[in-house]
Amino acid sequence: MQRLIPTLRQDQVDEALISVIHSLQITAKEISFRVGQGDLAGVLGSTLSENIQGETQKKLDILSNQLIKDILLECGHVRAVASEEEEGIVLGHENGEYLIAFDPLDGSSNIDINSMVGTIFSILPVPENNSGTADMFLQPGRNQVAAGYILYGPSIMMALTTGKGVKIFTLDQTVGEFLLTKRDLAIAPDTSEFAINISNYRHWQEGMQLYVDDLLAGTSGQRSKNFNMRWVAAMVADVHRVLIRGGIFLYPWDARSIDKPYKLRLMYEGNPMAMLVEQAGGLAHSGDMAILDIQPTDIHQRVGIILGARNEVNACLGYLKASQ
Ligand code: F6P
Ligand code: MN
Repeated sequence: MQRLIPTLRQDQVDEALISVIHSLQITAKEISFRVGQGDLAGVLGSTLSENIQGETQKKLDILSNQLIKDILLECGHVRAVASEEEEGIVLGHENGEYLIAFDPLDGSSNIDINSMVGTIFSILPVPENNSGTADMFLQPGRNQVAAGYILYGPSIMMALTTGKGVKIFTLDQTVGEFLLTKRDLAIAPDTSEFAINISNYRHWQEGMQLYVDDLLAGTSGQRSKNFNMRWVAAMVADVHRVLIRGGIFLYPWDARSIDKPYKLRLMYEGNPMAMLVEQAGGLAHSGDMAILDIQPTDIHQRVGIILGARNEVNACLGYLKASQ
């Protein structure tokens, strides 16, 4: 079985980018060890502080953030990092070629119940102006040179794209290396499985409500087929399922708060997952446009997400359009 780094060389990924991905491999091993220690690591539970998104921060979030930051900033090819857990960017090496945006521990409310969590990452090139400010990150997701996630589940997996399809590597814990276990992932265009937090139904736009009504109506409704539903409550695990066995994942606009009508973040959730999904032949849309075409205005901005099976995403967009 092929190891991660030789696989990247075979794909002619440049050495600077390989070095960044190598650093991510190290962080994955560090974080997975701590996540795996659970209660024994003495890291469960919430701290008194809240992160800048106003959510309760778990201690393991802070630890994961610190680990990724330290390891990436040691890599001479990293110009700066942006993290869900940091208000501003953190600068690395002046001549670094890459910017890394990451969600250090996605789905962290799952920690307390010993369920799946993960690290999501997006790698962008340093733009020409190399301003040393957060503006460097404000590039559409189409510019990503690589994106992926590390899933801390019963086994530890890295999903990765460098723009040549999607590969899955599994951590061989006996030797501490990621080995290639799946290549050329392809999301089937049709599906009968969806993932959405249906408890938000009353806050959605009418088009989204009508779409989900028809999923629930099954063979007795307009769609004339039955749908199944799954919700892990960690985007990283729900999108992993879509990549492996198909489906549609949605975290759409909702009216709970005018300033925050979306929950998920563009730079370190929407964009990397959108690149993976498009590379696997699926679609990733915000409800207004392809996620990868959005011009960001803030490193922490939020976005609507409708991604997965091509025909199902288009079906959903049809309902949104029809009710406008
Ligand atoms: O990062 C935010 C997040 O934890 C995602 O991983 C997940 O998809 C979502 O929030 C879960 O939201 P909810 O609390 O509505 O189930
Ligand atoms: Mn997250």
